[in-house]
Amino acid sequence: MNKEQALGMEKIAKGPFAPIYPAMAKELIEKSQKKNGVCLDIGGGGGQLGLNIKALTNMEVVNLDINPFTIDIAIENAKEMGQTENFQAIAADVQALPMENDSIDLCVSRGSYWFWEDRAQGFREIKRVLKKDGIAIIGCGFVSNEILQDVIKKMATVKPEWNEMRINMFKNNPVEDFKRALIEASIDNFVIEEYSHSRWIIIRK
Ligand SMILES: C[S@@+](CC[C@H](N)C(=O)[O-])C[C@H]1O[C@@H](n2cnc3c(N)ncnc32)[C@H](O)[C@@H]1O
Repeated sequence: MNKEQALGMEKIAKGPFAPIYPAMAKELIEKSQKKNGVCLDIGGGGGQLGLNIKALTNMEVVNLDINPFTIDIAIENAKEMGQTENFQAIAADVQALPMENDSIDLCVSRGSYWFWEDRAQGFREIKRVLKKDGIAIIGCGFVSNEILQDVIKKMATVKPEWNEMRINMFKNNPVEDFKRALIEASIDNFVIEEYSHSRWIIIRK
């Protein structure tokens, strides 16, 4: 994990991906029906998703990422959005979450699960930290085909190979692989929603 990776993702998050986060925050609040308590964003990068959730709710937000160079970026973004209160940015691995059992109301994660070394362990940890009646929404997405098309158009000028990489990421990591990891983690209360623009794994405890 290095600084270039964190800065590279941040450039995309502030550029072509920018329309995703406010729309996705709305989508995930609606799906989860959570507006209070603690929200954990796993692999949150520069914190855009969690900060947008925070701006629309009363939630305390923890942005967690394995790359320690995301901490300063996320804190800077919190300042820019006027959202520093009840916001934390920490460096940790989803496979060993530094949280108490039953402490999180809403866990979200966008575009990170592809990279977890041991997905079953990641899911096990998410289940452990969720409160009873907590919900985790883990996956990757672009909210709508309209936003996806806009991102594809803008990414074509920044990184021409990106759309093919995105398509391959979904193709080479089929839903069945995630189902197997969830079953290995002894999680049975889950649904997987697959759309042309997004895939969400929804875990309830
Ligand atoms: C494609 S970026 C997505 C960032 C952000 N969620 C967004 O949508 O802008 C994937 C992020 O997952 C993080 N990540 C990868 N493996 C991780 C792990 N095992 N635990 C926590 N974060 C991880 C990376 O450091 C990176 O910031």
